[in-house]
Amino acid sequence: MMIKILVARAVFPEVLEKLAQHFEVESNQQDTIFSEAELAARMRDKWAVIATASERIGAATIASSPHLKAICNMAVGFNNIDIAAASAARVMVTNTPDVLNETTADFAWALLMATARRVSESEHWLRAGKWKKWQYDGFLGTDVHGSTLGIIGMGRIGQAIARRSLGFNMKVIYHNRSRVSTDLEQGANNAFYVSKEELLSISDHVILALPHSVTSHHTIGARELAQMKPTATLINIARGGIVDDAALINVLKHRRIAAAGLDVFENEPAFHPDFLTLSNVVLTPHIASASESTRRAMANCAADNLIASLTGQQPPNLLNPF
Ligand code: GLV
Repeated sequence: MMIKILVARAVFPEVLEKLAQHFEVESNQQDTIFSEAELAARMRDKWAVIATASERIGAATIASSPHLKAICNMAVGFNNIDIAAASAARVMVTNTPDVLNETTADFAWALLMATARRVSESEHWLRAGKWKKWQYDGFLGTDVHGSTLGIIGMGRIGQAIARRSLGFNMKVIYHNRSRVSTDLEQGANNAFYVSKEELLSISDHVILALPHSVTSHHTIGARELAQMKPTATLINIARGGIVDDAALINVLKHRRIAAAGLDVFENEPAFHPDFLTLSNVVLTPHIASASESTRRAMANCAADNLIASLTGQQPPNLLNPF
């Protein structure tokens, strides 16, 4: 009898074919969003699951899956999984780091440029038929070139974002749990380590590239937003929950910062409706890693981790060695 696995969301067919060479695969090509209870029921007789950042896999689900050996997330972030409960149950957890660094960094720049230069706002205005004449003060934005870029979270994605700033002649400052090596700082356009407070008060543009955890929850709240320049922009390509969305809406409404570009939200996809009433925010539906080749690489990476974990090998991206 073949070992059973679950692929909890739709994936590229070739990934299912690869998995089917080793396992009996239950897949979800209709891409139904399972409730936690439904997911737990489907996992009960499975040895491993491929999930995405949208599937919450908590202690109860892990406890009700007696055969479970591996949870393979198709994401670099893993705040949707209770890692402590998985380790206690000797369930391996893996993610998909590195394959998405450059694509995600590209998207941080897309959001930064769109936000600072008011691309979405002016396009909506044009599409609404409001463009009757050129104006010297139409949609004045903030320069990106020559400005100070503050990056919170100088991991591999933060470094890829920083590298791109060289061509824009920017000064890069960063804050991170701890200072990175001098070599990494030099490779990140000579990024300079500062406190969070200093970063927020000096930066013209702030980009969030840190993981979400209990400690990073609401890294940016009312107090932090008040420390930012009134002309500054805030970009979040990391995770919902790192920013206190209600506090952000409040400062955007009162123009206490210039604008924000957000790819992730608290409670997504049911994000705070007030964002829709604001013209100084660019909103995208969690697509920073969504290039064709990167999403394929992520899916294959998750599948390779799963195959390794059930065939006696150490999965390449094991998060919880025990
Ligand atoms: C996407 O959000 C990821 O964590 O890969």
